[in-house]
Amino acid sequence: MPDASRPNIMHQLQNDIIKTDTLIDVGYGDMHDLIDFEHSSFKTIIGLDTQVFQPFRVYRNAKGINYDTQLHDQFLERFTLSEDDFTEYDFGINKNSLIICRHVLHFYEDRAKLNYLQRFYLSLQEGGLLYVRLNHIFNKDNTDPDYMNIRNDRVFQNKAVPDDIRYLIEPDDFLKLMRSDYYLLESHTESTEYDLTFVIKKLQRTIN
Ligand SMILES: C[S@@+](CC[C@H](N)C(=O)[O-])C[C@H]1O[C@@H](n2cnc3c(N)ncnc32)[C@H](O)[C@@H]1O
Repeated sequence: MPDASRPNIMHQLQNDIIKTDTLIDVGYGDMHDLIDFEHSSFKTIIGLDTQVFQPFRVYRNAKGINYDTQLHDQFLERFTLSEDDFTEYDFGINKNSLIICRHVLHFYEDRAKLNYLQRFYLSLQEGGLLYVRLNHIFNKDNTDPDYMNIRNDRVFQNKAVPDDIRYLIEPDDFLKLMRSDYYLLESHTESTEYDLTFVIKKLQRTIN
């Protein structure tokens, strides 16, 4: 069965998407978000992840349906999956129409988060969107002392997997910062007990 608790980003943003050229999912993981765009009008759909998953397996898991070769082939035709490290990827300038970065940036220090967000933003076409979701300091799982060591106020290290470090934002402060630097589509701003979601829109330039 599809995961009902997982928002369908395509449905959420369908009224706000005005360009359907290139969609990039940064750290696409198990591909749930990309799959939702299978029947969208995006001309190019790119997934970047340092770990490339088996799409057919994922498709079955995500949609609760069985593997089907035809579906697999059709599916792959619509997507380019790259085993790229997004920190080294050339996103271009004024190029992409939607970038999704979901549950990825909390693995990076705050300064790096801001740099990456700026790079994503600069790569958007005018009217393009940047969908971001990241864990925050009130996330009980990421701060659970049974599993995580505290390294400082907002930095937690997984006891079992020491390379897994969470740099958790303070959501109100982070939102304030985002609002001061970017134009947010406020109807998509959401803070849950686990994470913060916001959508940045690249505004059209006005000529004075
Ligand atoms: C917690 S998963 C989230 C996956 C997916 N976006 C989602 O919301 O279900 C984080 C993903 O980011 C990927 N990732 C982290 N750092 C990355 C990097 N520098 N370049 C590419 N992928 C990265 C990981 O491999 C992992 O698949």
